[in-house]
Amino acid sequence: MLSDAVAALRCPVCQGALQLCEGRQQTLACEAGHLFDAAKQGYFNLLTGKGTVFEADSAEMVAARYRFLDAGHYSALAVAVAEAAAGSLQRPDALVLDAGTGTGHYLQTVLERSGATGIGMDISKFALRRAARLNPQAANLVWDIWRPLPIADNTADVVTVVFAPRNPAEFARVLRPGGSLIVVTPRQGHLAEIAARTGMLGIEEGKEDRLVDSMRKYFNPGTSKSLDLPLMLSGSEVADLAYMGPAGHHLKREELAEMAALEGPVAATAKFRISEFAVS
Ligand SMILES: C[S@@+](CC[C@H](N)C(=O)[O-])C[C@H]1O[C@@H](n2cnc3c(N)ncnc32)[C@H](O)[C@@H]1O
Ligand SMILES: [Zn+2]
Repeated sequence: MLSDAVAALRCPVCQGALQLCEGRQQTLACEAGHLFDAAKQGYFNLLTGKGTVFEADSAEMVAARYRFLDAGHYSALAVAVAEAAAGSLQRPDALVLDAGTGTGHYLQTVLERSGATGIGMDISKFALRRAARLNPQAANLVWDIWRPLPIADNTADVVTVVFAPRNPAEFARVLRPGGSLIVVTPRQGHLAEIAARTGMLGIEEGKEDRLVDSMRKYFNPGTSKSLDLPLMLSGSEVADLAYMGPAGHHLKREELAEMAALEGPVAATAKFRISEFAVS
């Protein structure tokens, strides 16, 4: 429930506990009087001042991601993440934080399968509008992962990060002792068949070593699994796939139209790595 998630939240201004006030509009409030009203879709914007300067995904890019994920092409990945999380979500009041939750599809599967309480966090309000509709029982927060997270120490049982930025120090702080961090990254050759057509960036070698190195100070590496998903896509799905990722920022309308006009089905293989880490 939302109120369970709120118990783990901290005011981003004064770090005091936040309470959920249910009036005409839902509001998060701390004792010092800092107030955060829910947007009409149900998410909370906790960001005060400016977030990290970066090019946020546009509403159209988020819509492309929503269509692609909602069609179920990556459902097996969501199930694999939920299975990896399951062992650490046994407590009746277990809490999972999905950092860079995007449209909320991965968190949805984790929550459905575990019955855990959820917090979804993303810097894009366009993404959170979707995530809040998909996971209304979770606390969906506009926040910048590079900042100290508005979550109390030792409260989360699992942190999931699916193709999103990682802040190891903060993930370690909010996780309980024995908690688990689950990171999904693309492997070399991910969507290689269509990457060339779409200007999608290739995956560099040594990425996994770098992931483990970046975590070493706070986490011990655990199980790491590969998952390959064969895809058969229509032209418009190829266009959505290209547009929903980082390459989407640079694609021109004509290039997208060209992809959408491709005679399908186009075959491609998505290659993922699911890496688990334990707080050290
Ligand atoms: C490639 S998307 C992945 C989204 C989702 N996990 C998925 O796989 O569908 C990366 C997400 O990270 C979010 N993001 C990027 N920088 C962020 C930051 N500094 N703080 C929070 N979220 C961020 C983006 O808005 C975007 O939704
Ligand atoms: Zn406060």
